[in-house]
Amino acid sequence: MIRQTTLQPRTSQLRDGRSVTVRALAESDHEAMTRFGSALPEDDWLYLELDFHNPNTITRLVNAAAAENWRQVVAEYEGAIVGYSNVRLLPGWKSHVADTHLVISEGWRRSGLGLEVAQTILEAARDLGVTKVIAEMPDEQRAGRAIFKHLGFHVEGILNNHVRDHHGHYHDMVIMGYEL
Ligand SMILES: CC(C)(COP(=O)(O)OP(=O)(O)OC[C@H]1O[C@@H](n2cnc3c(N)ncnc32)[C@H](O)[C@@H]1OP(=O)(O)O)[C@@H](O)C(=O)NCCC(=O)NCCS
Repeated sequence: MIRQTTLQPRTSQLRDGRSVTVRALAESDHEAMTRFGSALPEDDWLYLELDFHNPNTITRLVNAAAAENWRQVVAEYEGAIVGYSNVRLLPGWKSHVADTHLVISEGWRRSGLGLEVAQTILEAARDLGVTKVIAEMPDEQRAGRAIFKHLGFHVEGILNNHVRDHHGHYHDMVIMGYEL
């Protein structure tokens, strides 16, 4: 069961004056998540591990809303989801580590929303009991690298030609880590 200590809904005012609610993903978010995912730009579709354009991905995420080893948060504005992040506990000898994903709607970027959502998900990672969080992304994802650096993550490794995008092109994958 998700403990509600770190995932209580809270309202944040962004730099541009807009206010969003950051809260746990709920099973009832299926439609809103579908709209959020299908509106993401082509670059995100190309470079994100999670294919938010795919209905199966949305169903999988929403079905995991209460998963014991996951935490998922969304940013909501007037009923629309404008940001998503998760942390997932890794199995076996990496069970002290979680990986994370973070995506903000195109029209909401550079307003501080990514930081709001990321800080909430890092609190949720603490709640999961992990001591380390990693973020993996293709080298091209400059904004992703920048925000995780801003949050205190460091590049821990680069794997050559490790990911293949939806056009079949290979990319180096950057692994960034953060000790909680
Ligand atoms: C990466 C992403 C989540 C950033 O979200 P955001 O809401 O725009 O981020 P914020 O406005 O909170 O920015 C926080 C800090 O991150 C850095 N940053 C964010 N986007 C940046 C960019 N495009 N270029 C340079 N620095 C950037 C800056 O240091 C920024 O602080 P500043 O605005 O005071 O300079 C968003 O661009 C996104 O969803 N990209 C596609 C998905 C992705 O790459 N995810 C990461 C890998 S999982």
